[in-house]
Amino acid sequence: MILMQEIANFIRKVRLDFILSGQQVLEIADSFKESMVAGLGGRESCLKMLPSFLARPSGREEGIYLAVDFGGTNVRVLLVELEGRGKFRVLDRRLFQLRDSREGYDFTSPGATARELFGFIAGKIEELVLEGKEYPLGHTFSFPSRQLGVNRAVLLKWTKEIKTSGLEGEEVSEILLGCLERRKLQNVVPMAVINDTVGTLLASAYDDAGTVMGSICGTGHNTCYVEPRWPLTGKEMIVNMESGNFDRFPLTFYDRLLDSESGKIGEQLLEKAVSAHYIGDLAGLIIREAISEKLIFTGLDQKFFGRNFITARDISLLLADQSKELTLVAQWLGSKGIADSLLEERVALKTVASIIITRSAQLVAATYLGVLKHIDPQNERQCTIAVDGSLYELTPGYAGKLRLTLDNILKEKAGLAKIRPARDGSGVGAAIAAAIARLLPQNGPG
Ligand code: GLC
Repeated sequence: MILMQEIANFIRKVRLDFILSGQQVLEIADSFKESMVAGLGGRESCLKMLPSFLARPSGREEGIYLAVDFGGTNVRVLLVELEGRGKFRVLDRRLFQLRDSREGYDFTSPGATARELFGFIAGKIEELVLEGKEYPLGHTFSFPSRQLGVNRAVLLKWTKEIKTSGLEGEEVSEILLGCLERRKLQNVVPMAVINDTVGTLLASAYDDAGTVMGSICGTGHNTCYVEPRWPLTGKEMIVNMESGNFDRFPLTFYDRLLDSESGKIGEQLLEKAVSAHYIGDLAGLIIREAISEKLIFTGLDQKFFGRNFITARDISLLLADQSKELTLVAQWLGSKGIADSLLEERVALKTVASIIITRSAQLVAATYLGVLKHIDPQNERQCTIAVDGSLYELTPGYAGKLRLTLDNILKEKAGLAKIRPARDGSGVGAAIAAAIARLLPQNGPG
């Protein structure tokens, strides 16, 4: 028997634990700003504040570039033409998987080596290029990396559950170069390696000079921003904060549980609370708790709502259901082996999905506010925040909740901060980075 009042109480408690008040959003923004300043000053901080060795483009960069976009289990290779005046065209685009159980390979597992992984990517590049033509290459590598220069990056640690051996602590760009050379692809010339957030920022800044942040809300989460005065040079520098590792926000019981069951305990706590890789499991943990308290889906087996039972894509699907009886939710449950669900159970499930998404957007917005507090404390300037990623793009209501959280805090100044989707940003940004790098003195003629 379903106990309506008890379900309502359970959901109320979950909502209270997760949803942030305006005051909490402000406190998180302040802590974020403090962490940025500590990281910039070389003090202990959960924000790594990694320099990209790049400033924003002029918008006049031109030419045809190859871009490799490696940010998870998919890799994309693109051919991009930059036309100047902030315009570009994607001439060709290929997407391939780094793991394929039918084909019997997995370059993301500890059993695979870095050379095998990049050898595979070099093979895909080969399929796209013509002999006798030179291709400057921009490489988006979306994992925490210490840049030694615009074209040199050392992987600090894998995130997003990628586990390929032999790359942590190594120079990513050198390994790719070695693999290109082994395939005799001397006409492919790596010029720049960047984070996907940096790519997103560059792609937006190419036609909007007011872009100050680039952010990914997808499988992973991270933001970069334009630091007006980098401490060592006094000049503008795009800084990859690796903000997925931010940890100064209220963690719920479920966040702690998810973390304790994850690959890297205590790391990437913001990413675990907000990103597509984790939010399905977070919702699953809450539903499991309700099941174990015998509130909903009574009598269901433990195997339901375990890891990967709900994905971020499922969350989007649940949230898209506007029907009175929640028929799409019912169908989804049916497809997962749970037939004959009750309306109350479906409502509870959809509400949990909505709570998780709302908190995700609130937390992300709080970090953007933290950046604004640092670069424009009085909120005086027009600025653009470029956002890419499946969560932002595909989750019903996500963009609206992000906007609302900013508006509630910025009030009459809200109009100054524009949020802009930057589709394909990380690929196009890699081409722009290669174009900028080509003009740097060390790469010039002679
Ligand atoms: C992870 C990576 C980070 C990347 C983000 C989005 O947080 O550590 O480098 O930007 O995912 O892809």
